Amino acid sequence: MSTSGPAAQGPRTAQGPRVVLGVGGGIAAYKAVLLLRLLTEGGARVRVVPTDGALRFVGEATWAALSGQPVAADVWTDAHEVPHVRLGREADLVVVAPATADLLARAAHGRADDLLTSTLLTARCPVLLAPAMHTEMWEHPAVRANAALLRERGVVVLDPASGRLTGADTGPGRLPEPEAVHAAALRLLARGSAAPDLAGWHVVVSAGGTREPLDPVRFLGNSSSGRQGYALAATAAARGARVTLVAAHTDALPDPAGARVVRAGTARQLREAVLAAAADADAVVMAAAVADFRPAQEAQHKIKKSEDPADADDALLLRLVRNPDVLADLVAARRAGGVPQRAVLVGFAAETGDERAGVLEHARRKLARKGCDLLVVNDVSAGRAFGSPENTVVLLPAGSGGADEQEERVGPAAKEVVADAVWDAVRRRAGALHPAG
Ligand code: CTP
Repeated sequence: MSTSGPAAQGPRTAQGPRVVLGVGGGIAAYKAVLLLRLLTEGGARVRVVPTDGALRFVGEATWAALSGQPVAADVWTDAHEVPHVRLGREADLVVVAPATADLLARAAHGRADDLLTSTLLTARCPVLLAPAMHTEMWEHPAVRANAALLRERGVVVLDPASGRLTGADTGPGRLPEPEAVHAAALRLLARGSAAPDLAGWHVVVSAGGTREPLDPVRFLGNSSSGRQGYALAATAAARGARVTLVAAHTDALPDPAGARVVRAGTARQLREAVLAAAADADAVVMAAAVADFRPAQEAQHKIKKSEDPADADDALLLRLVRNPDVLADLVAARRAGGVPQRAVLVGFAAETGDERAGVLEHARRKLARKGCDLLVVNDVSAGRAFGSPENTVVLLPAGSGGADEQEERVGPAAKEVVADAVWDAVRRRAGALHPAG
């Protein structure tokens, strides 16, 4: 993580970062009130720039009182200060939440018909847009094209969350929770003026642990928490990528803002979801713990023990069969054309050393066996890493040993720091695969 720029000062110092909070004219403007609160409580100096439409949902007095600053609502007030230029130039971050379909269109086309769009043109700092609208609008080709164009230009456009919309309908289009948008804003501030270097990328991350049902109430599972995968999704979004997160049993974690979340239960469901999303991916990171075996048969009814409590011969034999290897299938699909040639494929390996070999030796063999481009190696000898916010890994690029492809140890560090190091390595690899790209 960068140690220069506004991040180094951080939002907690007396001179916190300057944030412009643009608010579009959608019902989700009420959630921007909570976002404003989180930003100011963190020490940021926030100027709120609501559109006319936004002011019909939440009035000027609310924004002014909570930001402790006058509201900047039009280009004509205080014209002698040329507010659109001053606001844009001085900001360390511009966040727009909610960004309506209309705002996305105006931003994509460089319109300057109100103070907010004019400020977007003068800002040279990172820009974070959090769209919110009805599912049909978000899925309309015009809106998708505007979001894609803004992303290509380096604007960080979060994918909306899925769930209940204004009426009784549900689907993708909700503004992510204020805490999640706030976390994304802090991540951008921490990156300072670093360019969103995954802009224009589609990345797929799998996270969590699959569960293989034995009967209607029991399953074979593992202790993966999904935290490292979630950190990978959140950091990729902050670096400008469009993110698909395939999540297996990570129910305890809040969705990271900006990722399209697809749920998968078993290894076979996860395989289907990952391969479908990977069809236009620039990188796929398999952070999920995928069960290698599943019960040969799933019992239709709950498995019962013998009714005789003294039955010493009562035993249950489970026959397990192999699950598909999703990572190996991705490598094969890239060879066959189902996954783009440019896609960087990354595996995770939770290893323990044994009497035959150490952790890294096992990992190097696994990298060769799997045929992926990078292996993130986790030493779990003493149950380390699971559920913890910190991690220590070694990044093993395929063919490492060459001068430009070194093994790299990262941590102990927050899983987000590890995630950033993984994306750095993925970018290096993408450059090595496509030096002209
Ligand atoms: N993986 C996968 N499909 C599986 C098993 C694992 O895609 N059926 C992926 C994991 O997501 C991870 C990588 O392969 O990125 C390595 O997982 P790991 O369980 O360490 O490897 P295995 O091939 O299962 O080897 P082992 O025999 O050591 O368990």
